[in-house]
Amino acid sequence: TDPALIRNFCIIAHIDHGKSTLADRMLQLTGVVEQRQMRAQYLDRMDIERERGITIKSQAVRLPWAPTTGEGQGTTHVLNMIDTPGHVDFTYEVSRSLAACEGTILLVDAAQGIEAQTLANLYLALENDLHIIPVLNKIDLPAAQPEKYAAELAHIIGCDPSEVLKVSAKTGEGVTELLDKVVAEVPAPVGKADAPARAMIFDSVYDSYRGVVTYVKVVDGKLSKRERIRMMSTGAAHELLEIGVSSPEMAPADGLGVGEVGYLITGVKDVRQSKVGDTITQFTRGAEEPLGGYKEPKPMVFSGLYPLDGSDYPELRDALDKLQLNDAALVYEPETSAALGFGFRVGFLGLLHLDVIRERLEREFGLDLIATAPNVIYRVIMEDGTELSVTNPSEFPTGKIAEVFEPVVRSTVLAPSEFVGAIMELCQSRRGTLLGMDYLSEDRVELRYTLPLAEIVFDFFDQLKSKTRGYASLDYEPTGEQRADLVKVDILLNGDKVDAFSAILHKDKAYAYGVRMAGKLRELIPRQQFEVPIQAAVGSRVIARETVRAIRKDVLAKCYGGDISRKRKLLEKQKEGKKRMKMVGSVEVPQDAFIAALSTD
Ligand code: GTP
Repeated sequence: TDPALIRNFCIIAHIDHGKSTLADRMLQLTGVVEQRQMRAQYLDRMDIERERGITIKSQAVRLPWAPTTGEGQGTTHVLNMIDTPGHVDFTYEVSRSLAACEGTILLVDAAQGIEAQTLANLYLALENDLHIIPVLNKIDLPAAQPEKYAAELAHIIGCDPSEVLKVSAKTGEGVTELLDKVVAEVPAPVGKADAPARAMIFDSVYDSYRGVVTYVKVVDGKLSKRERIRMMSTGAAHELLEIGVSSPEMAPADGLGVGEVGYLITGVKDVRQSKVGDTITQFTRGAEEPLGGYKEPKPMVFSGLYPLDGSDYPELRDALDKLQLNDAALVYEPETSAALGFGFRVGFLGLLHLDVIRERLEREFGLDLIATAPNVIYRVIMEDGTELSVTNPSEFPTGKIAEVFEPVVRSTVLAPSEFVGAIMELCQSRRGTLLGMDYLSEDRVELRYTLPLAEIVFDFFDQLKSKTRGYASLDYEPTGEQRADLVKVDILLNGDKVDAFSAILHKDKAYAYGVRMAGKLRELIPRQQFEVPIQAAVGSRVIARETVRAIRKDVLAKCYGGDISRKRKLLEKQKEGKKRMKMVGSVEVPQDAFIAALSTD
């Protein structure tokens, strides 16, 4: 295809603002999916089949479109619609999808207005120099306020409110105009046709039948079927078994040229061999310089995952192996805890990623898990100059520490202006620094804060929601690290440290944590034959203490008289209960106590 006729674009939208519905409508209007085949959310369905329900991966669809009006009227163009993942933790994936495009549709619900996530992705699009087409969706809704939100969008991107297109993805109103506008306004891709090939990977998906399917945009040159290619980050060579476009079913082709978007299959079985952001070139006489912007996926948040039933450990390992085939950012290594037994230390991109993985392990693999409190990566510098990377409280050194660095994020909060006070208070209490504040309209405000990531992973989002009656939205991206005054708090039961409850905290928060955990555990640990002191300590200094009083547990005392079968039942019940106890030193702790104590509320 002549690059002049290609338009590569994506849709930036908040969840539920109608991206899938709009994509469906475009598939239909461009004739790619015939009316009678049209099912609601065609693209989502394909994903569900492939990934069983969780759509966090992007893909591309090729749409032929001859504009009905204006420049290029009647000439069939190729529109490549590239899907962007819509979640906080996948900023890097989003940035790569955006880098494959020349323009984006900024889609906003006309009854809701823009959300933090959308705003953050808009900034990414602007950084990638994309042409922005502002669009309000759902104008058919009685609650729609198109004038108000058109003004808001116009203010944010600096255009005239009349330039904001108003559509209904549901009824199809305005969607033809939108497709025409994509052709008219989104710049055609530019690249060197006679240079060695350079193609950027913007997505890579594991498929159990075909192996890894890699989605690319060819920037320079041409990739052809059967050719040997090289991954520029690793130098690894592969053969192009198949190359083609999705429209939306995979359609093999002979090759892909400048500006084209499509998929390729090399037979690799693991997405880590075909990494998002990497550049592909020919194996012989390939390009010297990769395209910019490649980053290794870097886990930011770590948590210990343990099977509730210790005998499920092999199943947990197999499940993690399987998930990793499709998730280059998921890392794990075996870990043992005196309290929880055998499990894994697992690294995630962020909290949402953690939730998704945990849910998949439980739902798809039927595992019951205990997760330890999420931990960020601390960089610890000792007085003798050695440096440690700590992802687990148990690795926090006891020797002489010179300084500790913690990761920080730049966060964006969007909310009705009446909540500004409450949000500022929350961010302040989480050691935040205000970077700036903007009124998007009279009654909506955007606050930008630098916050320690550790403060965000700890129930920040829940707090934000509850303090703003659910109206605030949050987005964040890593921006580096800062020096911090951190200590490790240990929890001791009858003098024995319980590793699962140790935490690395800011010095000012250590006391509150100690008091809260000791109090919680006093409620959760049943009385034993002896008195059990519960202590919170920083090093050898005890900062909080509670006591579980001793009791002689006489289960039979409840039985009056001689009903032997009832006695037996009670004894059996007690035995059952014992099974779900863990011995921590000399103290029996019910399994449930771990789960309850490790939950955030
Ligand atoms: P996720 O797939 O969850 O990211 O959401 P999405 O942004 O793709 O939104 P989706 O297309 O699933 O739409 C969300 C809801 O809004 C669905 O119930 C749609 O039927 C509805 N919807 C989408 N567009 C319109 C519209 O133009 N008008 C009306 N009334 N409803 C719409």
